[in-house]
Amino acid sequence: MRFDDTTAVITGTGSCLPADILSNNDIISAGDLKTTDDWIRTRTGITHRQRISPGQATSDLATAAGGAAIDSAGSPTVDMVILATTTPDHPCPATAPQIAHRLNLGTVPAFDVAAVCSGFLYALATATAFIRGGLSHTCLVIGADAYSTIVDPHDRETAALFGDGAGAAVLSRGSPQTPGAIHAVDLGSDGSGHDLITIPAGGSRHPNHQPPPEPTAYYFHMHGREVYARAVRHMTRSARQVLTAAGWAPETARAFIGHQANQRILDSVADRLGLPTERRFGNIARLGNTAAASIPLVLTDPAVHHALHPGDRTVLTAFGGGLTWASIALTWPSATPRSKPPEPPTATVPAPPQPARSQQPWTPS
Ligand code: UT7
Repeated sequence: MRFDDTTAVITGTGSCLPADILSNNDIISAGDLKTTDDWIRTRTGITHRQRISPGQATSDLATAAGGAAIDSAGSPTVDMVILATTTPDHPCPATAPQIAHRLNLGTVPAFDVAAVCSGFLYALATATAFIRGGLSHTCLVIGADAYSTIVDPHDRETAALFGDGAGAAVLSRGSPQTPGAIHAVDLGSDGSGHDLITIPAGGSRHPNHQPPPEPTAYYFHMHGREVYARAVRHMTRSARQVLTAAGWAPETARAFIGHQANQRILDSVADRLGLPTERRFGNIARLGNTAAASIPLVLTDPAVHHALHPGDRTVLTAFGGGLTWASIALTWPSATPRSKPPEPPTATVPAPPQPARSQQPWTPS
């Protein structure tokens, strides 16, 4: 869909990265993994990632990134908060209301969006629809994840791929001629592949009062090879569709920013779109796959900000669990990105004592 009249415009961007930096060899040693630094670099492009420390959670990163984006926009007036994440602080409730509270935004609507690695673009599209529909004037959109809390450190297929972080954007109602304007959106899903990226346990399919499945069922699982093939196909198709919807010939796109899952996937998609190396922007080597945070962390990268000019045509494309995919055509914003360190964890109410799993009232049928 293309927006010719009123649209949402990015007026501020912000980021937050945790302090701990881990090399491939750090991950290999910690998980006793049968892999090598060379395998990880050549198959994925990843050399390092940053991760939260014990006691930190997604909201600590998301609150800091959101606050930085509000500072960047120079406007504390936000009337809606949308958080894209797969690693909420708790399964219930959503994390966005807590972020709104910690940012002193009052009683604004606040909710989470679950579209895994496509989440930030789904959330940007949702904010655009709210703004175009008149239900929000200025919306804070955050992509934040802490996959270090859900990956199995001993699973060589996933342990080295992910990093933690958060990125955010403030969007306000404006004209498509303004730098930072969203010009077109393409969203899609294919639930036939819902089990290709999954955390098998912890949801209603495996309720807590039933005997736990394999302990590893609480960890993130991915069928990497199958996901790889579908990611290339859908990201390419979706990016083409959004460029067509915007009325932009692919060669006029000055910047290509794809979800940072694998450098080889990103290069395949950009090659198919005919976009040369100097128009491809990313951070996968340094940060790994930061899931919902990966695209906003590229948007807020100081080096990327200096390489691009306000108004440059930019295509964002993502693919993730669900399966889901999303692309957005926008012009490069004029706001200067800000960054902040993680917020200190909030005090939480201690959980009531629970019986050990083996003592819970479950009997075999
Ligand atoms: O963020 C959401 C979307 N996610 C993605 O888009 C990720 C998509 N997938 C990928 O990035 C890649 O598939 C991986 C990085 C996960 C794997 O790379 P690959 O080049 O596609 O490897 P593969 O899946 O084709 O596996 C080749 C072999 C397998 O062994 P067999 O079956 O051929 O004996 C894997 O078990 O490589 C093995 N393998 C590893 N070997 C050493 C998988 N991970 C590792 C590893 N070290 N870390």
